[in-house]
Amino acid sequence: MTSIGIIGAGMIGNVHAETAQRVGTTVACVFDSNEAKRSAFAQKFDCEEEASVESLLSRDDIDGVVIAVPNFQHAPLAIQALEAGKHVLLEKPMALSIEECDNILAARDQSGKVLQLGFVCRYSPSAMVAKAMIDDWSIGKIVSIQATLLRQRGIPGLGGWFTTKALSGGGCLIDIGVHLLDLVMHMTSMNAPKRVIGRCSQAFTMASYDYDEMWSDPVENGTFDVEDRIRASITFDTGMVFDLNVSWATHIPEQTIADGLLIEGETGALIVDLWSDEITHAYSVDGKPHSETVKVELEDAWNDAFDGEHRAFAQAIESGAVPTGAGTGEDGKRVQEIVEAIYASDDAQKEMAI
Ligand SMILES: NC(=O)c1ccc[n+]([C@@H]2O[C@H](COP(=O)([O-])OP(=O)(O)OC[C@H]3O[C@@H](n4cnc5c(N)ncnc54)[C@H](O)[C@@H]3O)[C@@H](O)[C@H]2O)c1
Repeated sequence: MTSIGIIGAGMIGNVHAETAQRVGTTVACVFDSNEAKRSAFAQKFDCEEEASVESLLSRDDIDGVVIAVPNFQHAPLAIQALEAGKHVLLEKPMALSIEECDNILAARDQSGKVLQLGFVCRYSPSAMVAKAMIDDWSIGKIVSIQATLLRQRGIPGLGGWFTTKALSGGGCLIDIGVHLLDLVMHMTSMNAPKRVIGRCSQAFTMASYDYDEMWSDPVENGTFDVEDRIRASITFDTGMVFDLNVSWATHIPEQTIADGLLIEGETGALIVDLWSDEITHAYSVDGKPHSETVKVELEDAWNDAFDGEHRAFAQAIESGAVPTGAGTGEDGKRVQEIVEAIYASDDAQKEMAI
């Protein structure tokens, strides 16, 4: 049986432990720099509490680790874990910069261990069905994708590391936009993105945003120096245009514009809600518009997606290679390149090459 340790006992660390146990992976141990959090986690998941990253990584009874810590800790901890000979499932975003991504890739290659990226949306049941339809050429050559994820009030840990650029690398783009960037690249089989124009904005401030509840711990009088809203338009070498529309917070009421993917091909279109049990397939019959609902088998789309990610990680550990369909380090770096180009486009107020 595969056995792992978890580094980071926050919101998503808990999801990883629940998922691992659900799919039959042993959660042997945890380390979190916050002692109270790691103790509560150890008790909840009946695993051992480690007092340092070093002691966790020195254990012989774990094959791999999940790294679920604030973004600025991704590169140092991923490199440390790989150098200690552990397989790594690293949460998104891969790192804060392309240079950090390169350093992680070098550590992976040096160690011969597996590095899988936490691009969990790849395992959304409806996204998997849509990808299979795209691969089967059900909608022909793709010409346009619109990807939308608009939270009306969904800033994680307001004032804390998520909203502090030096610790997170950015706002909603690097937090949730990366999921959609990776998913589109994955679904379209990594066609080459060429150019991007991006616009980041911040509609809210610590004072004007009424923090209710979201992931991570909020910090009173903390920092909020990142975007809460981002629009980007990316053109590909195939001629495909990909529009990204993401917010942590917006004045637009939720679902005014439906979240998900609108994928248009030359012979049809797909409307995909990542967490629904059906997708819409639209096309023409005798020149007239036609659409049908494609049912998606699922139990609980969110749990199913994390199960898929952890089954893939167990398989990666077993086989020594990231299985087809899972996020690799190269995928993480490619997303980082697009993210940096979007931020650069916003800074320069002009289109940028990727
Ligand atoms: N895949 C997803 O859908 C998804 C969802 C949420 C978050 N994430 C990613 O997961 C990571 C963690 O996010 P979160 O929401 O759990 O944040 P969080 O703030 O809830 O938890 C982070 C935890 O890391 C701990 N920590 C900080 N530095 C550490 C260190 N050096 N060693 C060990 N522990 C340390 C903190 O004490 C905290 O408990 C982020 O990179 C985030 O982008 C992914």
